[in-house]
Amino acid sequence: MHPLSVALVCLLLPPSLSQSLPSYSGQYGVGLVDIEVPVENPRNITNTTFTSNGQPAWFLETVFFSLYYPVAPGTNSSAPAHPWIGDPVDCVAAGIVVSANSSDVTDELVSEALSSVAGSVKIPAQADTPLVNGTSALPVLLFSVGDISLRTWYSQYAGRLAANGVVTAVIEHRDGSLACTVVEENDKPNRTVQYYQASQLGAPVSGNTTEMIMEQRSFRQAEVEETVRVLQELTAGRGQQIHQNNSRNEGQYLTSFTNRLDFANLVMGGHSFGATLALQALSDSSISARAGLAFDPGKSSGPLNSNFSQSVLIPDSESWSSQPSEFYGQQHFEVVKEIAESALNRTGASWFMTLLGTAHTSITDAPLLVSPSLLGFFDPTSVNVSLGDPSTNIQQYVTVSTEFFEFLHNGTRSGILTSGVTAPEFVAINLNDSNAQGFFDGWEIHVAPSNGTKASAPTPTPTSTPKSKSAAPLTSCSLVSFLVVMLAMLASSL
Ligand SMILES: *[C@@H]1O[C@H](CO)[C@@H](O)[C@H](O)[C@H]1NC(C)=O
Ligand SMILES: *[C@@H]1O[C@H](CO)[C@@H](O)[C@H](O)[C@H]1NC(C)=O
Ligand SMILES: *[C@@H]1O[C@H](CO)[C@@H](O)[C@H](O)[C@H]1NC(C)=O
Ligand SMILES: *[C@@H]1O[C@H](CO)[C@@H](O)[C@H](O)[C@H]1NC(C)=O
Ligand SMILES: *[C@@H]1O[C@H](CO)[C@@H](O)[C@H](O)[C@H]1NC(C)=O
Ligand SMILES: *[C@@H]1O[C@H](CO)[C@@H](O)[C@H](O)[C@H]1NC(C)=O
Ligand SMILES: *[C@@H]1O[C@H](CO)[C@@H](O)[C@H](O)[C@H]1NC(C)=O
Ligand SMILES: *[C@@H]1O[C@H](CO)[C@@H](O)[C@H](O)[C@H]1NC(C)=O
Ligand SMILES: *[C@@H]1O[C@H](CO)[C@@H](O)[C@H](O)[C@H]1NC(C)=O
Ligand SMILES: *[C@@H]1O[C@H](CO)[C@@H](O)[C@H](O)[C@H]1NC(C)=O
Ligand SMILES: *[C@@H]1O[C@H](CO)[C@@H](O)[C@H](O)[C@H]1NC(C)=O
Ligand SMILES: *[C@@H]1O[C@H](CO)[C@@H](O)[C@H](O)[C@H]1NC(C)=O
Repeated sequence: MHPLSVALVCLLLPPSLSQSLPSYSGQYGVGLVDIEVPVENPRNITNTTFTSNGQPAWFLETVFFSLYYPVAPGTNSSAPAHPWIGDPVDCVAAGIVVSANSSDVTDELVSEALSSVAGSVKIPAQADTPLVNGTSALPVLLFSVGDISLRTWYSQYAGRLAANGVVTAVIEHRDGSLACTVVEENDKPNRTVQYYQASQLGAPVSGNTTEMIMEQRSFRQAEVEETVRVLQELTAGRGQQIHQNNSRNEGQYLTSFTNRLDFANLVMGGHSFGATLALQALSDSSISARAGLAFDPGKSSGPLNSNFSQSVLIPDSESWSSQPSEFYGQQHFEVVKEIAESALNRTGASWFMTLLGTAHTSITDAPLLVSPSLLGFFDPTSVNVSLGDPSTNIQQYVTVSTEFFEFLHNGTRSGILTSGVTAPEFVAINLNDSNAQGFFDGWEIHVAPSNGTKASAPTPTPTSTPKSKSAAPLTSCSLVSFLVVMLAMLASSL
């Protein structure tokens, strides 16, 4: 039976698990505010229109992001906790149905499944609270999400970074690559933007998916530029105006961001399609990123940009590095390695590495909301991977990210970044084997500065056959399992 069909059978049963996201631990508490404000100059990013009604496909009207930031420990929300899946459930469901492109997946089923989790899973951050007091400016990460996914699905990674002092803006793109999102502007009717297919669009897309993706990339890049503009307004002391212009009814403490954002250490990051965008945006002088942080750069979101002069950190998941993928006549792994190497040659500091025990969705919240056996069952990229503990995996992504921020701030290499290359090519490793000695907490380092402390770490012996883990039997049916299907689609499409 197709895994999707199993999931759909589960949908007919009552929910049996109550799921929640773990609270954050770190030096700081975690604040969260949603900001949606009009762009300065509303514009069409390209001239492509929908064939059905002549409406522009990429009209940039507002920019929308979730801002995670450090707050004083013990600070309490002044607004309701943010739901993990908010409104409009029906539109998100319909977007998933379109992207699934399968007759097994119907609007009614997906809607019902989402409705049962919508509202019950909350993001454990303190909504609309003041930034922690202090005089120093804080590092900033701009984060572009993957295909299909919504901004809320990266809440653990972003929140844990904030608990460590990094201000993180997770952008919800309106480029038609997400399941569904609503454009809200004060005193105007809401506008929904649902997952696009190339066949819905006129020239020059006219059914050409590659062309559509390139136009989506231009749109996403413009949204990143606008996010930077809003953050600059905040640090320039215009938090009050941003609050007034915010159609999401939050931001009463935004003035606390005055002079607190460190644009000298702005990092452009993202996951999957968003990682492709992050590499592209490094060449954009109006974003002016200091460095790039690209998790699992896209395999089907067009060519990857390598023409930039900043340092990059590229942490791959095990499934991303291990699965051979043809990419414009080369292997995807080799292309990414070359990007990191050429950045290393130009800047003296860039890294490409793989975290063992991870699948493509490991940086999202999904593995925390379902049992690992369910994730193994539904995320096609995880089939040959022995998945590690989901919370530990996210923590490792957070740790390497904060080490990167520290390096950018004062040049100190700590933790994983002290290592030299341990595995020039990806090798299948069982972490319990003795040949895994010399690896840093499950990381294989493919590209690193040669002055690393472990430049001559032991060369691992490849295991003869990849671990092939048969899918775990589905013993527990839960509507939440549907969310995993959703994320599995993300994994299989990009
Ligand atoms: C955007 O494109 C649409 C359709 O082509 C057009 O009607 C509209 O005037 C354009 N808007 C702007 C601000 O250029
Ligand atoms: C859209 O079309 C107009 C008129 O043909 C042209 O001037 C403009 O450059 C086009 N914009 C883009 C983004 O291609
Ligand atoms: C925050 O809420 C908790 C639990 O309701 C309460 O014990 C604590 O005193 C509150 N903290 C502040 C600073 O109000
Ligand atoms: C949807 O599935 C059909 C049948 O499998 C296929 O022909 C079509 O190309 C798919 N459409 C997209 C947009 O992937
Ligand atoms: C932070 O600073 C503000 C303004 O100076 C002050 O009102 C507030 O009490 C301070 N909060 C803490 C937790 O120190
Ligand atoms: C827009 O959607 C929000 C919920 O996302 C809702 O609160 C608001 O009332 C809607 N506005 C209009 C004009 O429909
Ligand atoms: C689709 O668009 C891409 C990028 O614009 C172009 O290189 C390619 O030739 C197009 N494919 C077809 C079949 O027209
Ligand atoms: C807020 O909106 C007004 C009116 O649209 C605009 O003039 C102003 O520049 C905006 N302020 C900021 C800080 O974006
Ligand atoms: C690389 O970027 C520079 C400046 O940003 C530009 O002049 C050059 O043409 C680009 N090279 C390629 C191959 O795209
Ligand atoms: C980086 O520099 C090394 C040593 O000079 C050279 O062998 C390698 O080809 C360069 N790699 C890239 C991708 O530029
Ligand atoms: C490695 O050493 C070179 C030459 O001393 C230096 O330029 C570079 O900044 C160092 N890189 C790191 C990451 O410490
Ligand atoms: C660099 O900053 C980190 C904290 O971000 C600190 O622990 C370390 O001591 C600093 N190193 C130097 C050389 O200042």
